[in-house]
Amino acid sequence: MNDQIFEVVITTVSASGEPHIAPMGIRYKPGGQVLLLPFKPSRTLDNVLATGAAVLNRVVDTRIIAGSVTGRRRWPLLPADRIFGHRLQAALSHLELRLLDQQDDPQRPVLTMETVHEQSHSAFAGFNRAQSAVIEGAVLVSRLHMLPLEKIEAEMRYLQTAVDKTAGPEEHEAWGWLQDAVELHRRKSSP
Ligand SMILES: Cc1cc2nc3c(=O)[nH]c(=O)nc-3n(C[C@H](O)[C@H](O)[C@H](O)COP(=O)(O)O)c2cc1C
Repeated sequence: MNDQIFEVVITTVSASGEPHIAPMGIRYKPGGQVLLLPFKPSRTLDNVLATGAAVLNRVVDTRIIAGSVTGRRRWPLLPADRIFGHRLQAALSHLELRLLDQQDDPQRPVLTMETVHEQSHSAFAGFNRAQSAVIEGAVLVSRLHMLPLEKIEAEMRYLQTAVDKTAGPEEHEAWGWLQDAVELHRRKSSP
């Protein structure tokens, strides 16, 4: 059976202190451990190896996820409590992680992190289908260079229904960025 994967936003800093934000699918392990699997090359990977730390942010503002695949990576940050780094101001909760072990791999190393601090900030309001649609849309946009455009456009049309029926202003904005990215790619790739 596959490992259960949770989509979160990982915030890291470079050795010189420059923040970086990236959505990642992570796995929780017993004893407060978290596995990060960044594809090489990855600034998240470089930063974790340089600082030995990362912050796992649980968010429902999917603009942060759609933003990261459409060139909008500046979101309000607050200092972390126990590690060198930041958490997202929008995080419902966050975990501060320290690097325990790394298994190198030419494509996708595995970083085993331990939780050194956890904090909740706001309550989870429940599932929203438009948020799920934005996450799926962001994954499609991150694969524009790998998948046939017709497949991406067909899946975006299917996801549109959930956006039309259940989105709030944040999801509409995030969805618009994703649609613009697909449209731009279509114009660039048509003869
Ligand atoms: C929902 C979602 C999940 C993602 N999960 C991963 C992941 O597990 N590993 C990864 O390397 N990139 C993942 N990506 C893509 C990265 O966020 C994106 O490529 C990012 O720029 C990573 O590279 P960086 O560390 O250099 O920023 C995901 C993207 C989305 C939208």
